[in-house]
Amino acid sequence: MDPSEVKIPPMKNLTVGNITENVIRTNSLCKDVRMKFMLERLVTHLHDFASETRLSSDEWMTGLRFLTEVGQITTEVRQEYILLSDVLGLSILVDSIDHPKPPGSTEGTVLGPFHTHDAEEMSAGDSMSHDPKGEPLLVVCTLRDTEGRPVEGVKIDIWETDSSGHYDVQYAGREGPDGRCIMRSGSDGVFWFKAITPVPYPIPHDGPVGRLLKKLHRHPYRPSHMHFMFEKEGYDHLITALYLRNDPYETSDAVFGVKDSLTVDIGKVGPELSKKYDVPEGHALLSYDFVLVSDEETSQLRAYNSKVALDKLGRRVKIVNGLPVPDLD
Ligand SMILES: [Fe+2]
Repeated sequence: MDPSEVKIPPMKNLTVGNITENVIRTNSLCKDVRMKFMLERLVTHLHDFASETRLSSDEWMTGLRFLTEVGQITTEVRQEYILLSDVLGLSILVDSIDHPKPPGSTEGTVLGPFHTHDAEEMSAGDSMSHDPKGEPLLVVCTLRDTEGRPVEGVKIDIWETDSSGHYDVQYAGREGPDGRCIMRSGSDGVFWFKAITPVPYPIPHDGPVGRLLKKLHRHPYRPSHMHFMFEKEGYDHLITALYLRNDPYETSDAVFGVKDSLTVDIGKVGPELSKKYDVPEGHALLSYDFVLVSDEETSQLRAYNSKVALDKLGRRVKIVNGLPVPDLD
């Protein structure tokens, strides 16, 4: 950009007291009103953080070095930034804000760093796990909308670890996907498949995020769970998981993903289901009724929640492209 064409508002004589205002004024030419709003709030909170903690130069440099290391260890299959966001509770907060759920619908949870885009499409009844040491599990679920109608043809991405608590991507020399699949719901909204009973596992903790947890006297474990992601045009993208009740890490998940409504008991297959799905009686069973929310319901609820939250902070906003920006009119 040609500097002579940019009319940055003149800075005032810089002091500790007006540096925040000066930076915000300098950023104020940004044409994207949403970005301008976010930068204004980001600069304000960053400056407040430094002022309130009386941040030392050494601490500031330690923080920058830490972020550098997070970037250096990150690859296509090692997402340290997602992990950092997860262990700070930011991921679950953003999901709750961006994907609000009306009562009775399925809540979302963290995506985590292990989703891949190469899972194979499988048919009803197929097995997504090839780990002979895992406890075989029958999974039978339904998928409905908020009116209780079955939702057909939803793309459902499912992934879990093997019986040792590792995702396929954590093995060197991975040849293809395992412990993951894509299913489609039938006309009755049902989808079912075979898997293994989930086990607890630690998030990768041999990098900077692991060292941070250690320093904070936190463990890196996640309670036993299976991930689900639902996609169909007209419905809000749902990223969620089911957690096993009474897991040793149920109340101390390293990434804050557990919610009561997503916590389930592993049951046993009775005579009726045994015949229907051709598995032995007493076989482990996971069943759950998922409820999807339409895009329209979600955007209305998101806009309403934004107005209420910002009203409480005394900010007048309007909703543009589904997101709040200052209302200056
Ligand atoms: Fe996971």
